[in-house]
Amino acid sequence: MLSLVVLISGGGSNLLALLEASEDAQFPARVVAVGADREADGLEHAERFGVPTFSVALSNFPDRDDWGKELLEQIEEWNPDLVILSGFMRLLPPRVVAALSPRLLNTHPAYLPEFPGAHAVRDALAAGASETGASIIVVDDGVDTGPVVAQERVPVAPGDTENALHERIKVVERRLLVQTVLDIANGHINLEDYA
Ligand code: GAR
Repeated sequence: MLSLVVLISGGGSNLLALLEASEDAQFPARVVAVGADREADGLEHAERFGVPTFSVALSNFPDRDDWGKELLEQIEEWNPDLVILSGFMRLLPPRVVAALSPRLLNTHPAYLPEFPGAHAVRDALAAGASETGASIIVVDDGVDTGPVVAQERVPVAPGDTENALHERIKVVERRLLVQTVLDIANGHINLEDYA
């Protein structure tokens, strides 16, 4: 059974997909804890599923390195097989990446390397792209530059708003994320190949 720590900053719909998948006794992974860098709405999903949560706000620390140290301690307390950044909107300090990678995944609402960064959906619309996508990557020290583990195209519809397009991407993201966790658990994906 693969143990997961999921880090979020927002609504946590990808987290919810993992929590729901874990309800199935046949699903070979469990979310053991959920962390956040703020009072994220998605923490409620964890609480509803009886999964412990922790919160480590950058503003409570003198610098990013001290913040990262505490975040890493909180994560490692759960001894997870895999850590998933699921809408976690902060860059992790190098020490955290070094300690966890390649067992550190990030979901991203674009077909990387297209449209990295915090505004991927807005950027795809602004560029007039006819299609964008969803990606799952292994985190490295760059901004969405790590190796791609899984990705899928999502067409942009005429008149799409940022919100409408993002919601359609998230439907794909949730399926990709659950499938990727399954593939890692059953050995079809070996993260050491992405190290
Ligand atoms: C997801 O689309 C995720 O890929 C994105 O935030 C959303 C979180 O949704 N992450 C990034 O843009 C990171 N660069 P959720 O909170 O509903 O899971």
